[in-house]
Amino acid sequence: MPRVLHVLLASLVLTHQIFAQTIPPPGRCTPADIWPQGPGHALVPQRPDAELTKMLSQISPERIQATIAKLVSFGTRSTLSNQTDPVRGIGAARDWIAAEMRTYAAASNGRMTVDVPSYVQQPANRIPNATVISNVVATLRGTTEPNRAYVVSGHYDSRVSDVQNAVDDAPGADDDASGVAVAMELARIFATHKPAATIMFVAVAGEEQGLYGSDFMAKSLKAAGVDVQGMLNNDIVGSPTGDDGSHSPLDIRMFAQGIPPTETSAQINSRVSIGGENDAPARQLGRFVAEVSQNPLTSMNVHMMYRPDRYLRGGDHMSFLKQGFPAVRFTEPHEDFKHQHQDVRVENGVQFGDLIEFVDFDYVARVARVNGAALWSLAQAPGTPKNVTIDTSVLTNNSTLKWVADSAADGGYEILWRATDEPFWSHVIPVGQVNMATVQLIKDNVEFGVRAVGKNGFKSPAAFPFPG
Ligand SMILES: *[C@@H]1O[C@H](CO)[C@@H](O)[C@H](O)[C@H]1NC(C)=O
Ligand SMILES: *[C@@H]1O[C@H](CO)[C@@H](O)[C@H](O)[C@H]1NC(C)=O
Ligand SMILES: *[C@@H]1O[C@H](CO)[C@@H](O)[C@H](O)[C@H]1NC(C)=O
Ligand SMILES: *[C@@H]1O[C@H](CO)[C@@H](O)[C@H](O)[C@H]1NC(C)=O
Ligand SMILES: *[C@@H]1O[C@H](CO)[C@@H](O)[C@H](O)[C@H]1NC(C)=O
Ligand SMILES: [Zn+2]
Repeated sequence: MPRVLHVLLASLVLTHQIFAQTIPPPGRCTPADIWPQGPGHALVPQRPDAELTKMLSQISPERIQATIAKLVSFGTRSTLSNQTDPVRGIGAARDWIAAEMRTYAAASNGRMTVDVPSYVQQPANRIPNATVISNVVATLRGTTEPNRAYVVSGHYDSRVSDVQNAVDDAPGADDDASGVAVAMELARIFATHKPAATIMFVAVAGEEQGLYGSDFMAKSLKAAGVDVQGMLNNDIVGSPTGDDGSHSPLDIRMFAQGIPPTETSAQINSRVSIGGENDAPARQLGRFVAEVSQNPLTSMNVHMMYRPDRYLRGGDHMSFLKQGFPAVRFTEPHEDFKHQHQDVRVENGVQFGDLIEFVDFDYVARVARVNGAALWSLAQAPGTPKNVTIDTSVLTNNSTLKWVADSAADGGYEILWRATDEPFWSHVIPVGQVNMATVQLIKDNVEFGVRAVGKNGFKSPAAFPFPG
């Protein structure tokens, strides 16, 4: 053996021996290993209150089925289809959704109102002729903070293989009568309740042509100065079964974007420099949804996906993200592409098309429960803390956080923390009714968040601190 190689091998063996002695066994070193006590206590997920428990028990698979069947009965809901025919086309669907939502609002003592905001979309991508785009919006006004709002939506337009085909049957049972049924069923149940913040139950149009309805809505809310602190998009939430036989009836995917599309390059640089890529508002909303909705009332596992949407796809939550609002998308675990965006047909004995026979109404009801748990918990909690900063002016083992105190946070504030490589908050440090706190934990090794607590026990999503 040449001497050089021999020496090299000997040094490799030596290096390996050194590593073998010093590298701990495989596994993760967590802050708990470094600080056995760690400040605070382990995070225990928020529990639903009695009112929410009752509301979720009222979600009805039969009503959801009836809503989806009715939406399918309009033949096509293509955004380009007839808007004046009383029985076929998107206009008939729009009018039925609005009329149905008004029957729910009738039980709200005037707190829920139903509007059909519209605009004329001039010819554009996938819109050959000027087209009226109409959303149906049932707004349940918050009792104490009406300008703080949460949105739950589905899109009521549908399509076949050719997105500009305005006449052929486009049942759109899963995509997205299922999502509309979630929003409508929640509107029906929430109408008789009094959330502190406003909730908007929405069916948008123009999704398949290019997110036109949601873009119009998000821009309108932004222009009106509405403080939208969360948007839940339900799109393709109709079936837990894939065409390979995979079946996950207790699972739902929740897509949550990382770096917000509204951030400037300076803001992105700041976020990346402190390791904040996984702590955008959409991810905090996702963590909140997972915390409050994974329980025996929903039986569901909520799987947060660290991306805005599936590959090559998009959805109405993106219109909200583009306006700077936190938003996530729910989609079933195993999509069957034969039943999406397809002409209804049988080919070689295989059924194509988005038919109602492929929808599982109990599954949609469980997805509605996930949304209901999230919406009620969001609207009853104080809002997400604003302008949260962390002091980075000196090198210290302590971490000092500041925020703008909110009178709605009548139960004070909590600092949350987790190891930087953990997906969910693991620890809670209650700090009381203050707008600043110093904790004995070095910011280099953890991610921090601040959340607001209500006297009623509800806790807000966390806000991530930037250097102040
Ligand atoms: C829409 O339907 C109405 C009623 O059936 C009909 O009078 C009208 O011509 C249709 N419009 C278009 C553009 O097809
Ligand atoms: C657009 O308008 C043209 C003429 O005005 C008409 O021929 C065509 O069918 C329309 N397209 C759709 C999708 O309605
Ligand atoms: C947060 O900071 C921004 C920018 O300094 C300011 O415009 C805004 O009013 C602050 N928000 C609150 C709630 O104080
Ligand atoms: C900071 O913590 C380290 C242990 O993690 C300790 O060795 C050091 O003395 C502390 N520094 C101060 C200023 O407390
Ligand atoms: C660190 O924080 C603890 C608890 O708030 C406090 O007692 C201590 O004085 C702080 N140390 C420094 C160096 O700020
Ligand atoms: Zn869709």
